[in-house]
Amino acid sequence: MLLQGSFFSLPFRSPLRLRPPITHHHLPRKFSFAAVSSSASYAISDQELESRGFIFRRTIDDLNLDHLNSVFVAVGFPKRDTDKIKVALEHTDSLLWVEYEKTKRPVAFARATGDGVFNAIIWDVVVDPNFQGIGLGKAVIERVVEELLQKGITNIALYSEPRVLGFYRPLGFISDPEGIRGMVYSRKNKRK
Ligand SMILES: CC(C)(COP(=O)(O)OP(=O)(O)OC[C@H]1O[C@@H](n2cnc3c(N)ncnc32)[C@H](O)[C@@H]1OP(=O)(O)O)[C@@H](O)C(=O)NCCC(=O)NCCS
Repeated sequence: MLLQGSFFSLPFRSPLRLRPPITHHHLPRKFSFAAVSSSASYAISDQELESRGFIFRRTIDDLNLDHLNSVFVAVGFPKRDTDKIKVALEHTDSLLWVEYEKTKRPVAFARATGDGVFNAIIWDVVVDPNFQGIGLGKAVIERVVEELLQKGITNIALYSEPRVLGFYRPLGFISDPEGIRGMVYSRKNKRK
């Protein structure tokens, strides 16, 4: 999910399966809420990913924001001001990105904001189209969710485009739990 203006045990599929970019709309459509257990058993271990040249990073120190922005754009998010992305990331509680060792560029990303105790929302979940379908999206979400759970945060929400609901469901997210619907106030939604 994109902030405007502004989560098993399966084998790693190898070799890398590259697939063409998918066009994505950036508008939030559905709220999903996490109902995950706190066992940190990941589909792919950090070591397994590392052996394939993917390194997890948890700070923005070595993150080239222009490169990150180009991943956002490559998946169909609108290009955003890099300075604003920097501010957004500085106000982010949990952040995880995957660096591809060969190019030093970010190929997967997700972050979460929240109140640090009860609630968190996951934003900007992206995987470079050239690296989609090899488990990076799942790897990133699993780890962001685990980090939040470790902090005691158990109410984890995100927006999902309809076409991505099937990605989030196996990761523990459910839509409209007990009939609760997400509502969004957005200037562009306002009636003229
Ligand atoms: C959605 C996205 C993050 C998924 O990342 P990914 O690295 O391609 O996904 P993974 O390879 O980790 O897939 C994990 C599992 O989810 C499944 N999956 C991936 N995308 C899916 C989709 N759109 N719908 C249903 N299932 C999906 C995979 O088949 C895989 O299933 P398996 O574990 O049974 O093998 C990535 O496609 C992306 O960046 N899309 C564009 C941006 C976007 O839409 N972000 C979400 C905004 S709401």
